[in-house]
Formats: sequence, structure tokens, C-alpha cells
Amino acid sequence: MKILQIGGTGFLGSRIARRLIERNHDLTIITRNPENEMPFDKTKVKFIKGDILRPELLGISEKYDVLVYTAMIPFKPGRISNRKFKELEIITKQYFQNTIGLAKKLSCPLILTSGASYETKGEAIADESWPITRKGMAALGKCYDEMILGVKQEKEIPLIEMLPAQIYGSGGMFDKMISMAKNGKIVLLGGGNNFLPRVHVDDCADAFVLAIEKQPIGKRFIICDDLNVTVKDFMLQLGSTFGAKRIINIPKPLLRIAMGKHIYNTLTMNTKLTNSYIKRELGWQPKYSTYKEGIKTLK
Ligand SMILES: NC(=O)c1ccc[n+]([C@@H]2O[C@H](COP(=O)([O-])OP(=O)(O)OC[C@H]3O[C@@H](n4cnc5c(N)ncnc54)[C@H](OP(=O)(O)O)[C@@H]3O)[C@@H](O)[C@H]2O)c1
Repeated sequence: MKILQIGGTGFLGSRIARRLIERNHDLTIITRNPENEMPFDKTKVKFIKGDILRPELLGISEKYDVLVYTAMIPFKPGRISNRKFKELEIITKQYFQNTIGLAKKLSCPLILTSGASYETKGEAIADESWPITRKGMAALGKCYDEMILGVKQEKEIPLIEMLPAQIYGSGGMFDKMISMAKNGKIVLLGGGNNFLPRVHVDDCADAFVLAIEKQPIGKRFIICDDLNVTVKDFMLQLGSTFGAKRIINIPKPLLRIAMGKHIYNTLTMNTKLTNSYIKRELGWQPKYSTYKEGIKTLK
């Protein structure tokens, strides 16, 4: 297939790119920095130097079978003030708007990535029929919900939505957590008794490859492994894998002050998910069924 990807150099995107190369697809990646080193064979990929914030400069004339969006707004870990949040809200809207605009211009299906932000209580388990909870940093995506509704109602472009749970694996921002564990400590933000489902980056990439090849138009998929896990259990497993002995707990009130309400609400939200829909529809099966197997792969 001829595939155009925005975000093909990122943590998740580069794993998808690697899989697509292995499967002999014809892949083009839009990147701001084609000269950067990348974790895949660069000779097997075409690059378009460009920025999704300036789509008018992309100058794309070729036809593609699908446009895949796995880009991420510029986002540094740490405190997010209300002012910063408003800035990010505007940028988020531009990223989605411009990506949808590009898919329309290219008249090709779009695979769009957001996140599996669902707030659940007690034994309740969220599936794709639930409305996405726009709380914490996920509130940046309020514009997404409105845009998607428009795309679906007007049948503007064939759309597939991918909603990964928290992605872990070697690379990206997750490397910071691994190196902290290697240095002997793990940090539990707000106690960590809330559930936050996970998915290994390679399994997540496999889900995208299935969606790209099967093109289940109009569907939305939650991508998570088979076991809902608390933040605490996940972090303790990470710590024990790398021999971290020091557990630093940042209590909720302190976390709220240090990180601001947006990050606080994200970090303390309780989420339980099911992956039965993506398994049924795409035949996806995670290689790392739970975090216990997946964490063993981390370096
Ligand atoms: N990581 C998670 O746990 C997680 C969980 C749920 C959902 N997601 C979603 O999964 C997607 C990928 O996340 P990630 O963690 O892999 O992100 P990431 O590593 O930060 O990826 C950043 C990617 O976005 C591209 N990008 C950023 N701004 C761009 C711009 N203006 N124009 C063109 N490309 C741009 C970068 O390309 P260049 O720098 O090469 O230009 C890079 O390839 C995101 O949509 C995210 O919301 C992630």
C-alpha cells in the first residue's frame, strides 16, 4: 500500500513505520527534520520535509491509499498552567483540523490517533460505545469530538479512530521512567491506586498495521492489553525489574500544586478498559498480554 504518515518518527509512529517497512509497504513520512537519526532503515522510507501547522507548504501531489496520523503536539512533562493549557488547546485544534484537511485534499482514508481517556468507577469497564472523558489533558481534545462528529455526519472522508491506552516500551518519554528505575528509584504520583490500562508499543504498532491493511472504515478502537492495572502495580513491577529500591510517593495535595489541575486530573483518573472489540474486528492479539510480560522486554 502507499501510505502517508504524519508522526512516523515518534515513539509509537516509528514502531509502526518499522512494521510497515518490514511488510514492504511504500511509506512516506512527513517530518520537520528528515536529517535526524531514526530507529528504522531510512533508505526504505520517503520523506516530505514539512510541518502539519503549515499544510499549504507540503506540496503533495501523489495519491495515497491511506493517511496515518500519529503526531503529538509539542508537550514537555511538568506543570501545565491554565495559560499553557489554552495555548495547547489552540495547537491541538490546528493539528487535527489540518490533518483532516489534508486527508480531504488527498481524498484518502484517514487513521486518526487520540487517547483512551475514559473515567470509570468500581467494577465498570469502558468500551468504544462510551463517550471519551474530556478531563485533565484529554480536555485538549474537546475540539476533536466536534470535528469527528462533523466528518462522520457529512461523510467527508473515510475515517478510522485509534485510541491507545498508556503506551510503554523502550523509547520516547518512557525512557525517562526506565532510566529513573535503573538509577534505583520509582516515583508514585498521588499514591497510584487508580487504574490506568497499558499497551506495549509493539502491540500498539501491530494494531495500527492491521487497521491500515484492513481499513475498517467508520470504526473506533480502544487499544489496551488484557489486564487493567493500577499505576502503583505497574510502577512497582518496573522498579523490581530494574532493581529500584527507593519508592518516592508524591501525595495528592502536593501533586496538585506541583503539576496544576490538568496534569493532576490526568494522573489520578481511574480507567478500566476492554480490548474485546479490536480483537473481534481486526483479529488483533497482544503479544504481551499483561504489563508483567511486557516490562521484561524493556532495556
Ligand atoms: N504515548 C502514549 O502513551 C500515548 C497514549 C495514548 C495516545 N497517544 C497518541 O499517540 C500518538 C503518538 O504519541 P507518541 O507518544 O508516539 O508521540 P511522540 O513520540 O511525541 O511523537 C511525536 C511525533 O509527532 C510529529 N510531529 C509533532 N509535531 C509535528 C508537526 N507540527 N508537524 C509534523 N509532525 C509533527 C513528530 O515528527 P517530527 O519531530 O519528525 O517532525 C514525531 O514524529 C499521539 O497522537 C498521542 O496523542 C500516545
